[in-house]
Amino acid sequence: MSRREAEITLLVDGRPHRLVVDTRTTLLDALRERLAATSPKKGCDHGQCGACTVLLDGRRVTTCLALAVAHDGAEITTADGLGD
Ligand code: FES
Repeated sequence: MSRREAEITLLVDGRPHRLVVDTRTTLLDALRERLAATSPKKGCDHGQCGACTVLLDGRRVTTCLALAVAHDGAEITTADGLGD
């Protein structure tokens, strides 16, 4: 692991994940590209449209503006996780 990488854990829709990410990776890219969680969408990528919104530890967050490393250990609920 290089200085620009970090190991994080995320609980996504009730499933635990451990992954190594570049420290510049957004939470949106980690979810979509690393964990294949595709219900958060990349729309504007600037925090304006809300397409990337998830519940993060119970709070609404636009994941395109959040760094994955800043949310190590977070519990995330996507739109998929809200269904039955
Ligand atoms: Fe538009 Fe995140 S992609 S707010």
